[in-house]
Amino acid sequence: METQGPVKTKSVLLIVGGGIAAYKSLELVRLLVRAGIGVRAILTEAGAQFVTPLSLSALSGQPVYQALFDLTDEAEMGHIQLSRSADLVVVAPATADLMAKAAQGLAPDLATTALLATDKPVLMAPAMNVRMWQHPATQRNLATLTADGVRFVGPDEGAMACGEFGPGRMAEPEAILAAILAQLEAPAAHRPLAGTRVLVTAGPTHEPIDPVRYIANRSSGKQGYALAAALAGLGAEVTLVSGPTALPAPAGVHRLSVETARQMLDAARAALPVDAAVMVAAVADWRPATTEARKVKKGEGAAPPPLTLEENPDILATLSRPGPDRPRLVVGFAAETNDVIPHAVAKRARKGCDWIVANDVSGDVMGGDANAVSLVTADGVETWPSLPKDEVARRLALRIAEALVGPLSGTAESL
Ligand code: CTP
Repeated sequence: METQGPVKTKSVLLIVGGGIAAYKSLELVRLLVRAGIGVRAILTEAGAQFVTPLSLSALSGQPVYQALFDLTDEAEMGHIQLSRSADLVVVAPATADLMAKAAQGLAPDLATTALLATDKPVLMAPAMNVRMWQHPATQRNLATLTADGVRFVGPDEGAMACGEFGPGRMAEPEAILAAILAQLEAPAAHRPLAGTRVLVTAGPTHEPIDPVRYIANRSSGKQGYALAAALAGLGAEVTLVSGPTALPAPAGVHRLSVETARQMLDAARAALPVDAAVMVAAVADWRPATTEARKVKKGEGAAPPPLTLEENPDILATLSRPGPDRPRLVVGFAAETNDVIPHAVAKRARKGCDWIVANDVSGDVMGGDANAVSLVTADGVETWPSLPKDEVARRLALRIAEALVGPLSGTAESL
C-alpha cells in the first residue's frame, strides 16, 4: 500500500489531568509512540499526584512540562509556542475541573493556558465520578466546549474506581488512539480503510409488548461500539445502527439509534451500499405478535395475558443474500452457550454470510469487558485468546481491512 510520508510528522500535545485514570494515559503515550506519533506532555499539578513526570517523559521520549512559569521551559519553548507545537491537543483524563476551566476560558496554570492559547483542534477524554459527569454544571460545560469545537471520546460506562457505576470512566487507550488517528487524518498506512464504507449493528433490540413493557436481552453494545470505533480509526466511514444502549457514540462514527429489529433492518438497508457489514447486534429473534396501545392491566384474579410471539426479520441473512447491494464482506456474530464452533459453522452456512465471529456467552460476556472469540471463515476456524473487547475490535478491524484492501503494511498491523 502507498504511504504518504513519515508518520512522525504528526504529533500530539497530551494534557494529563488529575484523576485515577491518569495511569491509562501512560498506556496511551505508549500506543501513540508505537503508532509513530510524537507526544509532548503537560502534567497538571493534580495529574502529578497520580503519575510521575519521569514515567511520562520516559515513555514519550520528550521533556514533560508542568509549571506555567518555569524558566527553563520558557527559555526552551514558551507556553504559547508549546500550545501550537502539535497537530492536536488531547486532554486525557479531562477532569470536571479542567473541563469547567476550559469552558470558562480560565487559565490559572500551564494546561489551561495551553488550551486557551492553542490554535489546534482539541480532543478531550473525560474521566470523573458518575455524579460529577451527570451534574448539570458539567453537562453545561460539555455543551459549551462542544459548541466551541472541542471533540470528545467517552466517557465509558462501567464500574468506577470510586465504587459507583455509570458513565464517567475514561475511554480505553485504544479508543482514544482511534479517535486521535481519526482526528489527525493520519497517513494512508494508518488509515487503510479510507474511502470505504462499513455498516455495524450493535446493542440489543427492544420489542414492545405495550407502552411500558418490552422484550430485550442482556447485550450492552460494547463489542459493536468498540468495533465501530476501531473501523473508524482505520479510516472507514462507519454507520453504526444501534439498539438502546447507555454508550456514547464513538468519535467520528455516524450513529443511527433504533429500538426494534424491524427498525434496525430498515436503518441497515438505508445505509447500503457499503463495502462491509458487521452485524454485532443481539437482535431479538421474536417480537410480540401485537403491541397493545395501552398498558395491559392485571385483571382481578384473571389469568396472566397470553404472549404470542412472531419471528423478526433476520437482518444478517437479509444483507447476505446475493444481489447488487450485497456488501463485499458480511460478518455475523454468533452468541452461543454450548457447542460454540459447530453452531457457528452451521450458522455461517445458514445465514449466507462470509465470516462468523463466534463467542461463548455462557459467562458474563454480555455486559462484561472481555470476549473470547473464534473467527469462522471459508478457510476454517481461528480461535483467539480471551481479550478485552477493544482488542478484539482492533484485531477484527484489521482483518476486515485486509479482506477489503489486501495485505496491510507493517505499520498498520502494529497499530
Ligand atoms: N441476527 C440478525 N437478525 C436477527 C437475528 C440475528 O441480524 N433477527 C444476526 C446477529 O446480529 C448476529 C447473527 O445474526 O450477527 C447471529 O445471531 P444469534 O442470535 O447468535 O443467532 P440466531 O440467528 O438468533 O440463532 P439462534 O438464536 O438459533 O442461535
